[in-house]
Amino acid sequence: RTLGEIVTHMQSKVGGVTAASEVAAVKKPKAETHVVKKVAGAPSATVAISRLSAVTKINQNTKGANALVVNDGSDTSVELSESLINSGWNVTVLNPSWVNAQSNKALPSAVNEIAISSVDEKQISEIISTNAQLDSVIYLHPESTIENIVYPQTSKQGLELAFILAKLCNVKAAKVARASFIVLTQQGGQIGFESNDVTVDLVQGGLNGLVKTLSHEWSEAGVFCRAIDVVSTMSAENVANIITDELADVDAVLSEVGYDETGRLTLIGEVTDSYALTSGNNIDKDSVFLVSGGAKGVTAHCVIEIAKQYQAKFVLLGRSSFDANEPSWANGINDEVALKKAAMQALIATGDKPTPVKISQFIRPVLANREIAQTLAAIESAGGQAQYVSADVTNSESVQAAVKPIIAEFGNVTGIIHGAGVLADKFIEQKTLAEFDAVYRTKIDGLTSLLSVTEQSFSGKSKLKHLVLFSSAAGFYGNPGQSDYSIANEILNKTAYRFKALHPQTQVLSFNWGPWDGGMVTPELKRMFDARGVYIIPLDAGAQLLVSELAATDNRCAQILVGNDLSKDQEPKDQTQDFDIKKPQVSRLTKALQTTNATFTNAFLADHVIDGNLVLPTVCAIAWMSEAAVSLYTGYHYQGLENYKLFKGITLNHEKGDGNQFDEVNIDFKVLADSGDTLKLDAKISSTVANSSSNGKTVFHYGAQLTLVRRRDDLPITNLQLPALSSDVSVEATALYQNGTLFHGESLQGITDVISCNETSLLLACSVPSIAKFKQGEFVIPVNTVHSNHNIFANDLVYQAMLVWVRKQLGMGSLPSKTLAWQVYREVMLDEAFYIDLKVVEQTASKVVADIRLISENKQILAQVNSAEVTISENLNNLFLKTDGGKNA
Ligand SMILES: NC(=O)c1ccc[n+]([C@@H]2O[C@H](COP(=O)([O-])OP(=O)(O)OC[C@H]3O[C@@H](n4cnc5c(N)ncnc54)[C@H](OP(=O)(O)O)[C@@H]3O)[C@@H](O)[C@H]2O)c1
Repeated sequence: RTLGEIVTHMQSKVGGVTAASEVAAVKKPKAETHVVKKVAGAPSATVAISRLSAVTKINQNTKGANALVVNDGSDTSVELSESLINSGWNVTVLNPSWVNAQSNKALPSAVNEIAISSVDEKQISEIISTNAQLDSVIYLHPESTIENIVYPQTSKQGLELAFILAKLCNVKAAKVARASFIVLTQQGGQIGFESNDVTVDLVQGGLNGLVKTLSHEWSEAGVFCRAIDVVSTMSAENVANIITDELADVDAVLSEVGYDETGRLTLIGEVTDSYALTSGNNIDKDSVFLVSGGAKGVTAHCVIEIAKQYQAKFVLLGRSSFDANEPSWANGINDEVALKKAAMQALIATGDKPTPVKISQFIRPVLANREIAQTLAAIESAGGQAQYVSADVTNSESVQAAVKPIIAEFGNVTGIIHGAGVLADKFIEQKTLAEFDAVYRTKIDGLTSLLSVTEQSFSGKSKLKHLVLFSSAAGFYGNPGQSDYSIANEILNKTAYRFKALHPQTQVLSFNWGPWDGGMVTPELKRMFDARGVYIIPLDAGAQLLVSELAATDNRCAQILVGNDLSKDQEPKDQTQDFDIKKPQVSRLTKALQTTNATFTNAFLADHVIDGNLVLPTVCAIAWMSEAAVSLYTGYHYQGLENYKLFKGITLNHEKGDGNQFDEVNIDFKVLADSGDTLKLDAKISSTVANSSSNGKTVFHYGAQLTLVRRRDDLPITNLQLPALSSDVSVEATALYQNGTLFHGESLQGITDVISCNETSLLLACSVPSIAKFKQGEFVIPVNTVHSNHNIFANDLVYQAMLVWVRKQLGMGSLPSKTLAWQVYREVMLDEAFYIDLKVVEQTASKVVADIRLISENKQILAQVNSAEVTISENLNNLFLKTDGGKNA
C-alpha cells in the first residue's frame, strides 16, 4: 500500500462533523467485581536529558553555497548572516511581517532580503524557484513568552512557515554544501524538558517534531536535519557560533540538541517499569473524567480499564452522533460482509446507486454507534458511570455547552483525558496547510477546549487531579509521513511538562504511544509495522499501563514512551550494501579545543597538570578519534584500537599564552580494510601551527588504527579471585596522589585501594570520583550501557596503574608512550565500582610493558589492553611531586 492509500483509509474512518451536542446514556447493568488480568507488559521509558560531547565538524567547502535564513528579528539573524557570508555562503533572509524587529543592527549588505506578510504557499514557492538551488534552510523562531497554557496564533504562523519551507525548499537537491534543514528555538535550552522556563512559548516545541520527521523522510537523500534549542539569555554571537558549529556536525543521526548553562544535551528514553508503580493516587467512584475520543478506539479501552479498577464517572466526547436505535436494515447483522450486503440493498431500496464509497459511508455511523454503545455498556457493567456527548473538540463553545449539563449531574471534572486525534499521513512534499490544520487543531485547540471546561480557566488555579494526553511515538522520534502529527504531539509533550511545572499537584502524563493493536492502526498498517520490527501495543497491556501510571503515587516524568525505540530504523535490510555506497574512504573532521576559559569548559583538565602544563590525557585523544569515527561511519560501534602512538601531546594553557598556537585539531581517517561487518581505519590527530617559526606546518599528535564493528563482542568472564569492593578509599590509595606517585587532581583520582602488588602484577579497586560529573565537560560519562561515550575518567586509570606499579616496584617515575591494542567490551558506567588487573609482560632499563584489564564487580571483562608501554626514569621521580597549593612542581 502507498502512504496515500493508507491516508485515504485513515481519513475514511473519521466521520462527518456534528455541530449540535447530543447526550446519551445506556441502562445501568449490575456492577461486576474486577480482578486485574495479568498481561505481558508493554515496554516503556521515561524521558531524560543526556549530555553530549562537543561537536566534531566535517570539513566542507561552502564557497558559493546558498542559505535561506528566516529572520527572528534579533541580533542572531545578523550575526549568523555575517558568519555565513564570511564562510562563502550566499544568504537570503526572509523577513516575516509578523516578527517584531528587536535588533538595532542592520543585516550585512550582501544579504538578499525578502519580506513576506503571510504564509502564502504561492509566494514562497516563487521565492524559492527564482533563487538559486538552496543548500540550507535555517529557520530562527522568534522569541515570545506566554502565561499559562496558551498557543499564540503568531507562533503557529511561524510553525506553518517552517512547515511550508520544508515542503517547498527541495534542499534534497543541494549542489554545493551538504544539504541541511535547521531550526532554532528558545525553549529554555533543554528542549522543553521539565519546562525549566515556564514562560517560553509552547508552540515552538512543534518544530522539534517537524525536524525529527524530516530526518526520517530525507535520510536517504542525506539531508542533515537539526533542531537546536538555546536559553534565551545567550548572546547572539554565541548562538550564531552554535548554529554554524551544528551545521557542520559530523553526526547526522542526532536530530535535536539543546544548550543550557551546563552545555550540550539531547533527550533520550530511559527504560522504566510502568506496571511496578505503587498506586494510591486519588481515583475513586467520585472522580469525573472528561475524555475526548473516549467512546471509540484505544482511548475507549483505557477508559473501560479505569472503570473496571475504580468505578469512576466519564463524560465521553466525540464527533459521531449517537442513536441507541439502529436503522432497521442493520439490525442483528454483525458480520462485516453481511452488513455491507444489507447496506447495498438498503441503498438500492432508496433508489440510490451503491458504490463502495457510498456503502462505507452508509455503514460508518452504524459501526460508530455500536462502538459507542459497547463502550458505555462496558463502563456501566464495570460499575462506573458514563455519558456520551457529540461535539467537535476543536470548538470550545460547543464542548462547553455539551458538557455543562453532565457536570451538573456528575460533579466537577477532576481529570482530563485528551484522546481525540486524526491523521493525514503523507510525505511533507504532498502535505497541505489544511491537513496540517486539521491534525494540529484536533490536538492543540482540542486541549484548549477541554481545559476551558475545567475550573482552571475561571480561577487560574487548576483543581485537576489528572491530565492525560494521548501523544505519540511520532512526537518523540518523528515518523515518515507524519510531520503534522509529529508537530502536534510534540507540542502536547512540551505542554505536559509545562502543566506539571505550573500545577505540581496534578498527575500529568503525556503518553507517546507506539502503534496499538487497534484504533487508528488498521490491519494493513499493523502488517507494515510488524515487517519493520516495530512493537505493537496489545490493547490490555496498553490500557493497564495507562491505569498504572495514572494511579501511581509517583509522577516521576510527565512524558512516557510506550513501545520500542523508534529512533533507529528497525527494518531488516542489507546494511552492507547500504553502507558501502556512503562510506567515505578518506575523511577529515575538525574538533575545537575547549580552553579553560570557554563557556563550556573541560574543567577536569585542571586536574591533569604536568610540569605546570594542562596536558590533554591520552584517553581523551582516543575518545576524540573513536567518537568521530562512529559518527562518521553510522551503524558501527567502536571496538578498539591497535598501535596507539603519542607523537606530540597537546597542552591547553591558552590563557597563559604558552599552550598551542591553534584552536582546533584535525582528525583524519583512511579506510584500511572493510569486510562489511568490520571496518579498520587509520586515524591521526594533527594541527596546523601558525606561528612565525613553523607557519602552516602540520604537527602530528596522536595516531592509531581503529576497529569499528556492527556488533560488539559479548563480555568475557574472568575466573580471577577478587575480593569484594568497598566504597571506602584506603589510606594507601589516597597517598598515591600525594606522595608523587601520581600527579592527578580530584576528578581523576579513581584508585580507591591497592589490593595487591608484586614483581609481576598489580590489582586495584577503582571508582570514578563523583566530582568528575561536574568537571566532565565534553567527555560525558556514560550513565547506562546504551551510551557508547568513553569514560575517560575510568580509562585514564589504565595508565595510572602502570605508574603505580613502576613506582612501587622500581621506585621510579614513568610516562605512557604507546599501546599495542585496546579492546572495549563496554565502558565503565557512572558510579560503577570496578577492578584494574595489571600483569607485567616486559621490563627493561628504560621501559615497562604490561597487559591490563578493566573488570566489573561481577567479573565481566570490560576492556582488555595489551602491551601498554611506559618510559621509566629516575629523572621523572620529582615531576609529580606536589608543592604549595596542590600545584605540580
Ligand atoms: N492507535 C494507535 O496506534 C495510536 C498510536 C499513537 C497515538 N495514538 C493517539 O491515541 C488517540 C486515540 O487513537 P485511536 O487509535 O483510538 O484513534 P481512532 O480510533 O481514530 O479514534 C480517534 C477518536 O478521536 C475522536 N475525534 C477525532 N477528532 C475529533 C474531534 N474533532 N472532536 C471530537 N472527537 C474527535 C474520534 O471520534 P469521532 O470519530 O466520533 O469524532 C475517535 O473517538 C489519538 O489521539 C492518537 O493520536 C494512537
